[in-house]
Formats: sequence, C-alpha cells, structure tokens
Amino acid sequence: MRLPVNRALLFISFFFALANICLIIQLINHTAETRVNETSRNVQPTPALNNRSGGTDQPSPASGKQTSLRELAKKKNLLIGTSLRHWPFTREHKYREILYREFNTITIENAMKIENIHPQPDHYNFSESDLLVDFASDHQMKVRGHTLVWDKGLPTWITEGKYSKEETKRILKEHIQMIVSHYKGKVFAWDVVNEAFHDDGTYRDNFWFRSIGPEYIELAFRWAHEADPDALLFYNDYNNEGSNAKSDTIYQMISDFKKRGVPIHGVGFQLHTAIDQKPDLKAISKNMKRLADLNIQVHITELDVKVNKKQAATKEAWDQQAEIYGDLLKTCLSASNCKAFIMWGFTDRHSWLEEYSPLIFDKNYNPKPAYQKLIDILSQSAGFPATFRLPSSVAAAHRS
Ligand code: GLA
Repeated sequence: MRLPVNRALLFISFFFALANICLIIQLINHTAETRVNETSRNVQPTPALNNRSGGTDQPSPASGKQTSLRELAKKKNLLIGTSLRHWPFTREHKYREILYREFNTITIENAMKIENIHPQPDHYNFSESDLLVDFASDHQMKVRGHTLVWDKGLPTWITEGKYSKEETKRILKEHIQMIVSHYKGKVFAWDVVNEAFHDDGTYRDNFWFRSIGPEYIELAFRWAHEADPDALLFYNDYNNEGSNAKSDTIYQMISDFKKRGVPIHGVGFQLHTAIDQKPDLKAISKNMKRLADLNIQVHITELDVKVNKKQAATKEAWDQQAEIYGDLLKTCLSASNCKAFIMWGFTDRHSWLEEYSPLIFDKNYNPKPAYQKLIDILSQSAGFPATFRLPSSVAAAHRS
C-alpha cells in the first residue's frame, strides 16, 4: 500500500523540479536574447560611469561622481564629437555607453559614403545610417553628415558607367538630393565636398572633376542647399588647417562663393596628425580668424594623433599626444567661429589607425591622458565667445 503513495509523491516532486528547471532555462534565454537584440533604439541611457582609470564600472573611491566631456562642452556651447562605426555600435555595450556619455555630436564614419548608401543606381541603403541617426536623436546628439561628394568610396556603377557630362551631373544631383532630403531636419551639417584639392592648391584630378569640371563643387553646394535650406554646408579636407597653398585656395574659393551667393557655411579641418607632426597653432588660429571674417564656421572634423609602436613604449609619448589634443581644443575654444571638436573615433580599439593608438580611450575603453587633458581644459577655460553670428537662415538649425 505505501509504494503507490511514495511513487505519487516522487512523481509530483519530479514534476515540480522539471517545471523549475524549465522556468530557469526560459529566464536565461530571455536575458541572453535581450542582450543580443539590444540595438540602438532599445538602449536606454544608463548612469554615467564613475571610474575614469580602470576598465570596470566601479565608482572611483577618490573622486566620487565625475563629469564628462559632454557635460563640460555643453557649458561652453561646444559640439564635442566622434565618428561612429556601425559594427561595434551594434555589438559592444561599452561603445554605446561611452558614446552618449561623452559626446553630443556624431559623424557616421562609413555608412553614408556613396558606395554604402547608394550601392546600385536605383537602390539606396539607409538601414545602417538610419539606426545611428535615430540613436543620436534619441540621445539628444547632433549628426554631421559625411560625405556627399568624394572621389573615394565610389561604386563601380558610377566609375565604370561611361556617362556623359550631363548624365554625371544628373547622377550627382539625384544622389545629393536623395540623401539630404532623407535626413532633412536630422543632419544639421553636411560635409558636402571632401578633399577636392591637392596640397599645392590645384584641383584634384578626381572622377567628378574629370566628368563635370571644377564647377562640380559649386553645383554640389547648390543642390544640397535646395534639398535642405536649414543644413549647414561644409567643405572638408586635410592639411588645410594652417597656412599653406591648400588653405589659401579654399579661402579664395569660399570668398568667391560668398560673393556669388553659393551657399557655404563652414570648413572642416580633418586634422589627422601625429605626435611628431605638431600642428602650427598660430597658423591655425590665423586661418580660423580669416574664415570668421567671411562669416564661415570651422569644425575640427576628424582629429586623431598617431603614436608609433616605438614611441608608445614611453610615458612621454602619451603626454605629447595629450598635449596636442589639448592645444587644439584650446585653439578651437579661443576662436569665435570654431564650433565643433570632433575626433575620428574615440577608442583605439576601433580606429582606422588602430596600430598607432591615436584616440583618447585605449583598446579596453580606459581613458588615456589625452582624455583627461580635454576634461581639464573644458573645466578651466572661459566661456565661448559670443561674437560670431550665424546667418539667420541657418541659426535655428545650429541651436542645441
Ligand atoms: C578621410 C575621410 C574619412 C576617412 C578617413 C580615413 O579623412 O574623410 O571619411 O575615410 O579619410 O579613414
């Protein structure tokens, strides 16, 4: 008689144990799924990390809650930014966390380049850039569009299409207007034309120059303006920040555009540099000043500072790197028209120059001396000069 009762009890216990195991498995699956599916729109702002010296999220006992570049830049009315890559963005929580904690502006590194966003004549691929733009808007960050016209990153349907001059103009106009209207009101500034001049100031003999002639630059600005009259339109280049033939050519081009009413609002100084290639700060300030006199803004657009493997063994190298970041930030803050300080990435883990550790966070997302230098300068320096005035048509778009 006792056996069946025991069996029944055994059966019931077994059943409950099984049910519990199922419940636990379900919970584990749910947590894992939540992590995997955690793309930008699902990412909720989390509290600022307190620890600036280690790789964990533990609060630093000495400092308590620390500030961020973003918080400090806001007080200076400065846009502080980074370029942004889709791959780590969708896979690394830490990447997204630092991104919105430290920056108020982003440039999408590759997804808006022609071969990615317009891979076939009748096909536009907005999915990657939409995700990043939506993230920015959800986190009150501004977006710089990069880049509408460049001779690199062109798909073969354009370069090998054997189009006439008029057909190439039509293709470029449609491309520019499709992208700019798609992001109307979401992208506040565009790098309309990228790297159109050689260092000696002559026109780069690129695909657009050969097919359309030098007027492709002016046309691109006009077409972009038609598509979004509120967007700020920039010419972007490297080695154009100081005093040289290229920066003179750009200055002359802008003076001419201004006289003839071609819409242009800013110049981007890419500023890819290195610790043994110290930028000439006086020349940069002077160049910023002459552009301010034309009512032209400057954005530092792609800053990174290379340290080679041999140099990286010494502490001095990181201090020199920090010095250059700091000097350029001070130069920007002291110019009335320098409105944005944007780095080409923020972690050495995801940089086009990965082997030169050129950014302000290391490969494990630890802040480097360069990061601390930017914090120190933003904490100290005086407010942003209020002398520069944007043209009224674009002032609203620039307001943060
Ligand atoms: C130029 C371009 C950027 C990027 C860098 C290298 O500066 O403007 O988009 O491609 O080269 O990564």
